[in-house]
Amino acid sequence: MCGIVGYVGRREAAPILVDRLDDLSYRGYDSAGVAVAHDGVVVVEKCPGKIENLRAAVGKATPPGTLGLGHTRWATHGAPTQVNAHPHADCTGRLFVVQNGIIENFPTLKRELLERGHEFSTETDTEVVIHLLEEYYDGDLLAAAKKTAARLEGSFALAFLAAGEERLVAVRYHAPLIVGIGGGENFVASDITALLQDTNKVYVLENGDVVSVEANRIDVDSFLPDPPKALGTRQLTIVDWRPEDVSKNDYPHYMLKEIHEQPRALERTLQGRIKDGEIVLREMGLASELIRRVNSFHLVACGTAYHAALFGKYLFERVLRVPVSADIASEFRYRDPIVDGRSLVILISQSGETADTIGSLEEARARGAKTLAVVNVRGSTLAREADAVLYTRAGPEIAVASTKAFTAQLTAMFLLVCYLADRRRMEWPYPREELLAHLASLPSYLEQTLEQTAATAREWGQLIANEADCYFLGRNVDEPLAREAALKLKEISYVHAEAYAAGELKHGTIALIAEGTPVVSFMTQAEVWDKMISNLHEVRARGARTFAVAREDGIGLEDLVEGVMTLPAAPELFAPILAAVPAQLLAYEAAVALGRDVDQPRNLAKSVTVE
Ligand code: M6R
Repeated sequence: MCGIVGYVGRREAAPILVDRLDDLSYRGYDSAGVAVAHDGVVVVEKCPGKIENLRAAVGKATPPGTLGLGHTRWATHGAPTQVNAHPHADCTGRLFVVQNGIIENFPTLKRELLERGHEFSTETDTEVVIHLLEEYYDGDLLAAAKKTAARLEGSFALAFLAAGEERLVAVRYHAPLIVGIGGGENFVASDITALLQDTNKVYVLENGDVVSVEANRIDVDSFLPDPPKALGTRQLTIVDWRPEDVSKNDYPHYMLKEIHEQPRALERTLQGRIKDGEIVLREMGLASELIRRVNSFHLVACGTAYHAALFGKYLFERVLRVPVSADIASEFRYRDPIVDGRSLVILISQSGETADTIGSLEEARARGAKTLAVVNVRGSTLAREADAVLYTRAGPEIAVASTKAFTAQLTAMFLLVCYLADRRRMEWPYPREELLAHLASLPSYLEQTLEQTAATAREWGQLIANEADCYFLGRNVDEPLAREAALKLKEISYVHAEAYAAGELKHGTIALIAEGTPVVSFMTQAEVWDKMISNLHEVRARGARTFAVAREDGIGLEDLVEGVMTLPAAPELFAPILAAVPAQLLAYEAAVALGRDVDQPRNLAKSVTVE
């Protein structure tokens, strides 16, 4: 989704803005632009396509001003053209805005502004914002921004500058925005990855905040009559990510780097959380008494995080013996969910900024449910808004395709279920010490999995790259994994893929299996092994080329499949976490073979901050 950066300070703004936009490019974008103020004049450069186009344009034309705004646009209203790219200007050419989010009442505002004689030049919803600001501006940008924001409906983060004022003004309302604090310079950005080179000190803004940012001064106000948190309470957050965490190092793509970072990521997920035979999640802040009182658990998320939720559902039901639902966030929030004061709604998200997941949290809270966020990004909206938070600690994830965040989420599901079982005084259905020892060994199991599967994943990936379709099958805890494998393949290689609970295939989809169709089966669960074998026979009988991912003891597949990737001998409950690795590698290799833009696949954004 769109990315915002702003700079005010002592250095030349244009190159800083372009570099920071590059850091935000992982969010997904199709055009980019900057506005730089110098000697009371503002110069705008914007280009469709890659940041490099902007960099070239800026190099030639932009003045050496030390105040400016930058933007990466992911088109919603209007095509990704130069005209529609941000920043947008008012009729006088002296006021400028960049925006992330959607202004839902823009048609009404546009009519009103047209009647008042404003001239529009773009197809975007954003342009109304700057003409509205023009209506209210009388030399005080902060005051005008407050009045403007109060007229807008939707979810938005905005940053403004006015020719002649030595400050930026930024507004946050249901779209992420932070202020970074430097020495004699300050920043505004959509997320922390844009600022890691410059500072690790940030203020995370609250909904309704309107901030004036000068080189040596920050003032926080609100456009809401009743701000959610008192204005004096914005806490300075010290970020523990390092600049090198967001560099590619020697990897050709972020995705490959992040796949290989998984052992280290899981080490962090587990660090300090298993002690003397206990799961320690004190920082999560969920009272034992509340945990005991809960009579329904609901896991809610989008995309890959939803697959972690599906996995969590199997695990929670197996251990806690209560009904557990897993929902796609965009469905949960609009389906009149049955949750109340005795429900625990668990929101899973890498970014903590996904609009539908945040909407689900609000829906759950309005019905009196308790909320727990399982998130990766510290200080994100979900982390701040939920009653309790469990950080997955996977480190920054830059590639659009989620990998290490996913395996960290699956691991967090284990930690959580064991913790809840203890508080609810449940017997664990597995030998406790053994399970905890294996849980602690997950990083080394993942290391082995990477070694064992990389070469075969390349072969399969190259083979699948030549096919029009690919099917993934699984049962039980392997079923969410099949879904994840299909999503990974689709999103980065654009090869059509579908996942099926293997038993469901016969109810329609098997009609699509033809001579040579690749079918990859996840077969890590002994309980459903024979059923999976039958399903393999069924697809082979219809001409499918079959492949399997199985545990080391998964013998007996030789005559049924063209290839097997074997996983290390971890307990089968953990096998889906390990099997995620070959699924990711296979998608990666297919995308590379097809020459795709692996880290920034077409049409996708890393963090989906609008509905
Ligand atoms: O940041 P979140 O975990 O809330 O994001 C959810 C999905 O948008 C995300 O997992 C998406 O499906 C990824 N592109 C999958 O690789």
